[in-house]
Amino acid sequence: MEHIFNLLYVVMAIINFSRTNGTFCSLQGEPAYPQLSKHGDIIIGGILPFHSRWDVTNMSYLVKPPPVKCMSLDFRAFQFSQSLIYAIEEINNSSSLLPGVSLGYKIYDSCTSTAIGVRMAMTLVNGNENSDLDEPCSKPAQVQAIIGETYSSVSMAIANSIGPLSVPVISYYSTCECLSDKRKYPSFLRTIPSDYFQSRALAEMVKHFGWTWVGAIRRDDDYGNSGMAAFTEAAVELGICLEYSIPFFRTYSQEKVLRIVEQVKSSTSRVIVAFVDTWDLDILVHAFFKNNVTGYQWVGTEAWIFDLELATLDKFNILQGAIGLAISQTTVTGLKDFILDINPLKSVGSAIFTEFWEALFQCTFTKQNKSKDKPVCTGEEKVSEVENPFTDMSLMPIFSNVYKGVYAVAHALHDLLGCTQTCPTKKQPDPFTFLEHLKRIHFKTKEGDEVYFDKNGDPAAKYEIINWQTHKEHQYEFVSVGLYDSTLPFHNRLTVNMASIVWAKNSNQVPVSVCSESCPPGTRKAVQKGKPICCFDCIPCAEGEISNMTDSVTCEQCTQDYWSNPYRDKCVKKETEYLSYEETMGILLTAVSVIGAIMAITIAILFFRYKNTPIVKANNSELSFLLLFSLNLCFLCSLTFIGQPSDWSCMLRHTAFGIIFVLCISCVLGKTIVVLMAFRATLPGSNVMKWFGPPQQRLSVLAFTLIQHYKEKIILECNLGSNVAFWAVLGYIGLLSLLCFILAFLARKLPDNFNEAKFITFSMLIFCAVWITFIPAYVSSPGKFTVAVEIFAILASSFGLLFCIFLPKCYIIILKPEKNTKKQMMGKMAVK
Ligand SMILES: *[C@@H]1O[C@H](CO)[C@@H](O)[C@H](O)[C@H]1NC(C)=O
Ligand SMILES: *[C@@H]1O[C@H](CO)[C@@H](O)[C@H](O)[C@H]1NC(C)=O
Ligand SMILES: *[C@@H]1O[C@H](CO)[C@@H](O)[C@H](O)[C@H]1NC(C)=O
Ligand SMILES: *[C@@H]1O[C@H](CO)[C@@H](O)[C@H](O)[C@H]1NC(C)=O
Ligand SMILES: *[C@@H]1O[C@H](CO)[C@@H](O)[C@H](O)[C@H]1NC(C)=O
Ligand SMILES: *[C@@H]1O[C@H](CO)[C@@H](O)[C@H](O)[C@H]1NC(C)=O
Repeated sequence: MEHIFNLLYVVMAIINFSRTNGTFCSLQGEPAYPQLSKHGDIIIGGILPFHSRWDVTNMSYLVKPPPVKCMSLDFRAFQFSQSLIYAIEEINNSSSLLPGVSLGYKIYDSCTSTAIGVRMAMTLVNGNENSDLDEPCSKPAQVQAIIGETYSSVSMAIANSIGPLSVPVISYYSTCECLSDKRKYPSFLRTIPSDYFQSRALAEMVKHFGWTWVGAIRRDDDYGNSGMAAFTEAAVELGICLEYSIPFFRTYSQEKVLRIVEQVKSSTSRVIVAFVDTWDLDILVHAFFKNNVTGYQWVGTEAWIFDLELATLDKFNILQGAIGLAISQTTVTGLKDFILDINPLKSVGSAIFTEFWEALFQCTFTKQNKSKDKPVCTGEEKVSEVENPFTDMSLMPIFSNVYKGVYAVAHALHDLLGCTQTCPTKKQPDPFTFLEHLKRIHFKTKEGDEVYFDKNGDPAAKYEIINWQTHKEHQYEFVSVGLYDSTLPFHNRLTVNMASIVWAKNSNQVPVSVCSESCPPGTRKAVQKGKPICCFDCIPCAEGEISNMTDSVTCEQCTQDYWSNPYRDKCVKKETEYLSYEETMGILLTAVSVIGAIMAITIAILFFRYKNTPIVKANNSELSFLLLFSLNLCFLCSLTFIGQPSDWSCMLRHTAFGIIFVLCISCVLGKTIVVLMAFRATLPGSNVMKWFGPPQQRLSVLAFTLIQHYKEKIILECNLGSNVAFWAVLGYIGLLSLLCFILAFLARKLPDNFNEAKFITFSMLIFCAVWITFIPAYVSSPGKFTVAVEIFAILASSFGLLFCIFLPKCYIIILKPEKNTKKQMMGKMAVK
């Protein structure tokens, strides 16, 4: 119904405004008179809800609607109007602000109706109460600015229709976030923070108390829904999850309420964020009590957290320990006395004043209808003798908002009129210029409160944190336990004195409301499938990974030389396990390799001394020396495996091992080929030997080794324990030794001057056996034993080669010199 009213009045207002009779305007309909007014050079308008209801009369489009009848006087509006008048008088009296310019006011009643509100706004702008037919339509707006309204929906309607005219509308109590939209409400400003800030502040507060799993009940209208939307957005940012968000309205049926109670009862969260007001909560609290749903921690908005009436209604302590935000407690000195001094009001003597007086003192002025229960008003009643909403000063912060609004207008005027000692002009500034100036105003009130508007026309948000504490039985006290200031940097905005808070169930412990307990260091969070992010499992970090914070999302890999401790919450230096020269095994292996090296050198010296004897000559002395040299290196290279490893020794040990062993096997392979070739050379008509003379032999050894060297590069490049390269080298050695073995095996039965092929076969057999057994041993032995196994394999295979190939010759050289003759050699051949 109100929408129809609204539409009707807006249409009427537009007709009013645009209907011109040539250059003159004519008034349509009844003129509207202000409830309170005073003349001045510049007028400030006010639209306040003096009545909280209106009488819906017979509406039809067939007849002109009768004037709306307003009902239910609201004392708060009188407090607001008194605050407005107080500010204006104070400015009027001030010699520093707007000197010489008198401010006046016109205050209208909106009856809490959007339609009437819009009509009064149009009236304030138009000035239709004393329309002269001579007045031109292009006259300036009647008022410089409008202070109003209480209710967001009425403010929206007013701001929407006044917007194009650029007359500022300054609200002291409309908190809806929607009003921050400057495309829709370009001339709307306010001195009360937007719900946007409140929602964020609530979310930050909930986070501060460690509640990440909460439920929410919201009023199913613009206030609750938009407030909840902003809360949800902030909550998601802060990592808070909503278990449920239930809409509720005071007109909901009994079953619906019961369903809400059941839903809350079956939930696991212990905290309820309530975006509702006193009257909604009154119904809910009763329903909760009836169903034994108690002990929840309530978090509230400014709409109910500071409400004495609700506190008296909650007889069952359902809301005990409730915590929430209230508009920061500010006061204006002198205002309380001014509000309670109604004599100036009385002197105005308007109709609204009579109604107010009768309601305030429960008396009647009209003598004809003498009702029995109401005394006749004398006009001498004392305000100090009554206690009712008019004398209750708990809304002082809102009065202060009204006061700030008026002062903002005055300061903007002061600047625009160029006032210093005096104001050079009293002419009303152009509305658009004035609005732009007003938006940028920044001043301090006499109490030291800073007043300014942000780009959305909103003030800085400051809230007080209120906690409901029971002192006497069934009696609450609102205790201020902290502050929230949105102008401060994020981490300093919220200051809470945790020790002074009394929580739900009269507890001193902060209630816990989480979906999953937090993950200790050493574990990471893993979200449960299909559940909100606040529900997770804790998974221990893998080996070599750590997490050193609670609720870590990932485990971090320890750096190269570090390893995780058993608790996986710290990286500790890797225990370097190596084969040292001090321990028995180290000493033993060192001794064996040194002995091996000495033996190789000894044999080399022996061979050198007897280098001219047939046995040395016949056995290709050049390759023999090379083989002895490389075997010597093999023994020595095993030493690099012992001792504390460093980057270069790690690289060296495998590189050296690879090169030396390949050189070794290449020599043996060369020897085998020589044997094969030598046999062919003894056959008549063959001179194969010239194809494999000493130069070719050297070349083949070099070639086999060089292929290897190319591979070594890989090892150098990927020294980071690259197993691939290591196994590649082993594979190559294996391939060469296998080839060598096959060739030697083929040649083993060939008649030889000194059957070398047989020995080579045998040595290769040992070599292969050692390295084949090495592989499983190497893979399965732990830590430093891997190294020991590798050294053992190197030594065993080296000794194998040394003994098999050289010992028989040494035996002949030293013990059987008589066999070391050319004849003996030839003879052997001759036998074959
Ligand atoms: C409504 O208006 C009609 C005529 O316009 C009248 O007859 C009727 O009595 C009115 N009803 C009320 C409740 O005023
Ligand atoms: C402002 O002061 C002038 C005199 O300086 C006075 O006539 C006028 O009534 C005052 N207005 C208000 C609203 O107090
Ligand atoms: C303004 O001045 C008048 C006369 O001096 C005084 O009665 C009134 O209380 C003053 N008003 C305020 C708000 O200071
Ligand atoms: C309500 O709960 C309390 C304890 O939680 C229990 O002692 C009491 O019997 C319950 N009352 C009803 C009506 O379920
Ligand atoms: C007085 O009573 C008459 C009829 O009894 C009624 O019409 C009138 O509205 C009443 N006046 C007031 C002020 O209540
Ligand atoms: C956690 O580890 C990081 C580095 O990994 C370090 O910067 C940080 O200080 C550690 N935090 C704690 C609480 O130990």
